[in-house]
This record gives sequence, structure tokens and C-alpha cells, in this order.
Amino acid sequence: MNILLLGSGGREHALAWKMAASPLADRLYCAPGNAGIAREAELVPLDIADHAAVIAFCKASKIDFVVVGPEAPLCAGIVDDLERAGIKTFGPTKAAAQLEGSKGFTKDLCKANNIPTAAYERFTAAAPAKAYARTQGAPIVIKADGLAAGKGVVVAQTVAEAEQAVDLMFGGLLGEAGAEVVVEEFLAGEEASFFALTDGENAIALASAQDHKRVGDGDTGPNTGGMGAYSPAPVMTPEMTKRTMDEIILPTVRAMKAMGSPYKGVLFAGLMIGKDGPKLIEYNARFGDPETQVLMLRLMSDLVAALLAARDGQLKNFDLRWYPDAALTVVMAAKGYPGNYAKGSAIEGLEAAGQIEGVEIFHAGTRAEGGKILANGGRVLNVSALGRSVTQAQARAYAAVDRIRWPDGFCRRDIGWQAVRREQTKS
Ligand code: AMP
Ligand code: GLY
Repeated sequence: MNILLLGSGGREHALAWKMAASPLADRLYCAPGNAGIAREAELVPLDIADHAAVIAFCKASKIDFVVVGPEAPLCAGIVDDLERAGIKTFGPTKAAAQLEGSKGFTKDLCKANNIPTAAYERFTAAAPAKAYARTQGAPIVIKADGLAAGKGVVVAQTVAEAEQAVDLMFGGLLGEAGAEVVVEEFLAGEEASFFALTDGENAIALASAQDHKRVGDGDTGPNTGGMGAYSPAPVMTPEMTKRTMDEIILPTVRAMKAMGSPYKGVLFAGLMIGKDGPKLIEYNARFGDPETQVLMLRLMSDLVAALLAARDGQLKNFDLRWYPDAALTVVMAAKGYPGNYAKGSAIEGLEAAGQIEGVEIFHAGTRAEGGKILANGGRVLNVSALGRSVTQAQARAYAAVDRIRWPDGFCRRDIGWQAVRREQTKS
């Protein structure tokens, strides 16, 4: 079949790499893609916010199946538009993507279905939000309701900080996303990224991962989209995985179906694992970035068959197999990220880095020009590796990082530290 993948990040490079290996994929296209994805797929210079242009390309190129990577087109209803045009598409409809697009929607759904999550209130004005934060006390979490590209959450350590965050959000700092604010209880514990594939009715657990959201070593500095990840997440024991499916994922799938907006696609649950078990921090309606890079390295089964089964409502008798190895990815970002950064500097040594055993380099923000690979974004490369342990995968990934010559880039040097420490105390 002919497949079109939408997106241009490291997540999409990992998905393209895995889809290109599928016996079901005759031709694979990606719009708009990046220099790494160009090795796996034919790049198409489409504006993916222009749904009519995407549909026209699908018709002209006889596309049988579209896979949507990022959240913005999902929340804009691209799945609804493509399906209406008769094109099979992997991903949730606009109504179902509200699980990511509106934190208030998700919190209300959790409350109505007894899904464990932080206690909360929704607000449309600053004064009552601040009054609620004062009565609850710090630490407390302030969240913009809508999509804010990872910038919509403030974990306030003091009431004053909470009040300031409320004022900033209602002051229009995040535009429409901040027109409504959720104030919620601070959850203690260890975070994990959990992924399930759903077909509207059934759900199967994918592998788990742990992300590193802060920009600096030792989990310091501002939040980012993610500076590195590894899989599996040691806190996601078989028992915790079963509880997450039974207490969070399956009740969500049932509730969405009952509301008439069945959720099909990948459901990415950000979890806090505390002493009472798993609690939902938030949902994303898509694969994680950079979590997908480590998931795809560990996936043994055919990704295209799995995504099609989810789209077709055929997950009931489906399962996926995973390599037992650990995978780890280190994000190389442009100096200045997550603040201002420059584009256009040259990256060298990628070929030598990719020759290290177990290493795969996914491009997150690059473009090719005159035979050179140039940086073209904040997060630029995902230097990834498989290993028998997280310790080995980490050593391989950093050996590859050290072969890359890119003076304008930087990375964290401690990706995987929690798992490496656990492995060291075990042995
Ligand atoms: P989110 O964008 O909702 O994933 O939030 C970004 C980060 O803020 C999460 O990965 C957590 O580290 C933190 N966070 C969000 N909500 C809470 C909460 N209720 N308690 C503690 N930390 C939280
Ligand atoms: N790495 C977190 C995310 O994809 O939202």
C-alpha cells in the first residue's frame, strides 16, 4: 500500500524508519519531513495545516493510508477531513483529540469515570483561580486549558508563584490556550510515559518509557519538549501496567465510546506513579517525542499492521512483540533551546556516529543543502541506541554523540540516570 506520514520531527523519523521496514509499505511518503526522513520516505513539500492540499495529494498519489504524527493537525480535525474524503487515517478525530486539546475536558472525564488523577478546579477568571490556589496551598499546579507546546504548565512552589502564573495565563501570555485555566493538586512520585493503541473499543499496551523534560543535567532548568528518553521504564512493572490499563486507559476508551466520540489511535498517558499507584497527569493524542524513538527501536512487530488494525477496529485479537533490550535516546538541541536559538549550522560526523553497534540516529530538525546536513530547529538530533541494559544503551548513545561535530549544539549528559542507578545497585 501507499502510505503518507505527516510531520517532521524525531518522532516521525522513528515512525518512518519502522514503517519503511514493513512488508505492507509499497511507497512511503512524508510531508513535510526532514533530512533524516528523506532516507526512508519520499518527502512532499505540503503544508499539513492545509487539509485540502493534503487530500488532493492523497488522491493524486493513490494514498491508501495516512498516519498523523503531531497534535496540531489532530486537534484541527485532519482525521475527520481525510476520512470524509474516503482516505483511511490513523489518529483520533477532532472530538476525540480533546483528550489532549483540552485539559478541562480530560479532568471532567476522569472525575465522571473515577479515573485516578490530581484533584482540580476549572476557572475562566483570575480572581477565583487565585482564591482556590490560596485555600489549597503550595505546591500547586497551574495549567492552561489548551495546546501550549509544553509551555502551559507551572508547578508553583509558593502561593505567590501560583498567583503570578494565573495572572500570566489570563493575561494572554499563551493566547487562546490560556482563556481557561485548571488549578490542580501537586502529585508526588515518579513519572512515566505510557502508550496504548486503541481502536475505539479495545486497547493494547505498548512499551513504557521515561522522558527527561528539564533542559539541564540533574533535571534542572526550564521544561522542554523532552531532552532524552529510555525504555522500558522500570517503575512500569507488570502490575503497574495492568493497573494503568484497568484504572485509566480502558475506562477512558469506554467513556469516549459512550460519548459518541470513540478514540482511535495512540493514547499517550503521562503518569505519576506514587504510593497509591498510577495517576493520570495528562493525555496526549499522539506518540511521544522523544519516547517514540526508543519505542520503535524495541518494537519487533510490524508497525503498519498495528496502526491499520487500530484504524479498522481490529485490535481485539492483536498483540505486539518487543525486543527485551533497553533503548535510550539523547536529544541534541541547538544552543539556546528551549529559548531562542539559531538555525543553519552544519553538522558533521553523523556517518561515523551511526556505525557504533546498536546506534540509530533519528533526525528531529534538520535539512539537507549542498550535500551538508544543517540544523533546522530547536531539537535537532536524537542519538539513539539499543543495549542489553540501559547502562549499555547509554554508553553506546554517548559514544555516538561524541563522534558528532556540531559546535552549535548541546545535550544532557545524564539521560537514563534513574535506570542506570537502579541497574548499578542491583548488580
Ligand atoms: P504536562 O504538560 O501536563 O505533562 O505537565 C508538564 C510537567 O509538569 C509534567 O511532566 C510534570 O512533571 C509536571 N506536572 C504536571 N502536573 C503535575 C501535577 N499535578 N503534580 C506534579 N507535577 C505535575
Ligand atoms: N515527550 C513528551 C511529549 O511528547 O509530549
